[in-house]
Amino acid sequence: MLYSEKVMDHFRNPRNVGEIPDADGVGEVGNAKCGDIMKMYLKIDDGVITDVKFETFGCGSAIATSSMATELIKGKRVEEAIQLSNQAVVEALDGLPAYKLHCSVLAEEAVKAAVKDYYDKNGIAYDPDLLCGGDCESCHEHDEQ
Ligand code: FES
Repeated sequence: MLYSEKVMDHFRNPRNVGEIPDADGVGEVGNAKCGDIMKMYLKIDDGVITDVKFETFGCGSAIATSSMATELIKGKRVEEAIQLSNQAVVEALDGLPAYKLHCSVLAEEAVKAAVKDYYDKNGIAYDPDLLCGGDCESCHEHDEQ
């Protein structure tokens, strides 16, 4: 089968979909490759992500990876959340077809963008390199596959 059961499960029944009106950090990113958009909302209490929701105009793989990513970062500290790589999310989903891997980058970038927004709003200093995997759209064009 092309998609793992976990991917199908998170695609059909995505967790944490929606918006958080009083979010402490909001990140919106676009995938240069397909034009899909992802918005991530974080509620942060004392450096801990107490709630997370996402909205996406993206494909099924983007929905499944975002759903899994929200589950993986909920309850974590922000410093841990930004360490979450798209590879880790893909592994947690038991893999994605190679040509769909770029979709998983959207979730990772959206988490980082939301944390950056939280840091900026609260005047918290951070190392910009930590919030950039080096392949986000603001630095380069996507060329991974
Ligand atoms: Fe655009 Fe998957 S095809 S995120």
